[in-house]
Amino acid sequence: MMMMAALGSAGRLIQFARSSIGLSVRRRSTAAALAQTAPPETQENRKPKTGILMLNMGGPEKLEDVHDFLLRLFLDTDLMKLPVQSKLGPFIAKRRTPKIQEQYSKIGGGSPIKRWTSMQGEGMVKLLDEMSPDTAPHKFYIGFRYVNPLTEEAIEEMEKDGVERAVAFTQYPQYSCSTTGSSLNAIYRYYSNKGGRPNMRWSVIDRWPTHPLLVECFAEHVLNELQKFPEDKRDDVVILFSAHSLPMAVVNRGDPYPQEVGATVQRVMERLGHCNPYRLVWQSRVGPMAWLGPQTDEVIKGLCERGKKNLLLVPIAFTSDHIETLHELDIEYAQVLGEECGVENIRRAESLNGNPLFMKALADLVQSHLKSNEPCSRQLTLRCPLCTNPTCGETKAFFAGQKLR
Ligand code: FES
Repeated sequence: MMMMAALGSAGRLIQFARSSIGLSVRRRSTAAALAQTAPPETQENRKPKTGILMLNMGGPEKLEDVHDFLLRLFLDTDLMKLPVQSKLGPFIAKRRTPKIQEQYSKIGGGSPIKRWTSMQGEGMVKLLDEMSPDTAPHKFYIGFRYVNPLTEEAIEEMEKDGVERAVAFTQYPQYSCSTTGSSLNAIYRYYSNKGGRPNMRWSVIDRWPTHPLLVECFAEHVLNELQKFPEDKRDDVVILFSAHSLPMAVVNRGDPYPQEVGATVQRVMERLGHCNPYRLVWQSRVGPMAWLGPQTDEVIKGLCERGKKNLLLVPIAFTSDHIETLHELDIEYAQVLGEECGVENIRRAESLNGNPLFMKALADLVQSHLKSNEPCSRQLTLRCPLCTNPTCGETKAFFAGQKLR
């Protein structure tokens, strides 16, 4: 009896197992059929709850894009003020195009910044979906200031996608009104020109100069490059942290950038245990005005003249490769100037580009920002003490006044 019952149970079990297998086979074949018909979920077609707008200046992907890139740049009144800018801007853009095209042709015909930003964005949202299920799905958007995809187009796409929570995430770790400030003003102007309120709740990650994982990435890249110097020269190497310079007129109105770049350098050197002597130097000065110094090229020359001929260049204010690393640092300074000055060894630390730890840093920044429920940093709410651009005040009020709950 017991055996019959047992057999009966076993029979039912076998039957259940068979029908389950049948079900799971049917489910698998249905899923397989669906997989064949439904398009796979990609960055383009995912329906996001949280949209992360990665802000940067961008760079021309092709030589034909150089003119329009320069045109937008020289017409940006948040970046620079020129006399009769609407006429002079296009004139300068046209005049400079051939020279800049030549530089881009030497680094492969275009800027890699969109490729790197896409890779970083993909890595960031993948991590965020795991780390922060409450705010998932996450989707990243690229908002460049001077080339496609432009910030305004990205906002339109976010609104169309039905994003509920939008994060304007500057990809410049250190804040300047000329860079992050200009991108934030563009977001504010988009809504004020349209005359409507955003459907999304906006907040902004406006600076992150001392984020521990950012510092860790920079330190890792410095150490990797130091290892490539001959062993007997390694102690002698001077580390030159190089950042894009600013006109002194911008610095003197109270822009926070020089101080924030200094903060990153300080943390990286602390992390490295002050293993080598170092300086913070500034590159990319143009025109006759006074710019923040010392200039990277003059420092290289000066150090070589003083017998310091082993140098490590570290781009500290941009996270991806761009013309200022691939052309200015690698070709103009490390190759041409280095040879002229008789350097022994000059190397450049790799940009953060595809480093997985950097993607983790980005995801961590977004996760803690979303958790904080703060629309922006306290520092963003303060205008430069000598600011004369009324849009800055309106932009700050726009972000600080967002209701997130
Ligand atoms: S220029 Fe800095 S807030 Fe306006």
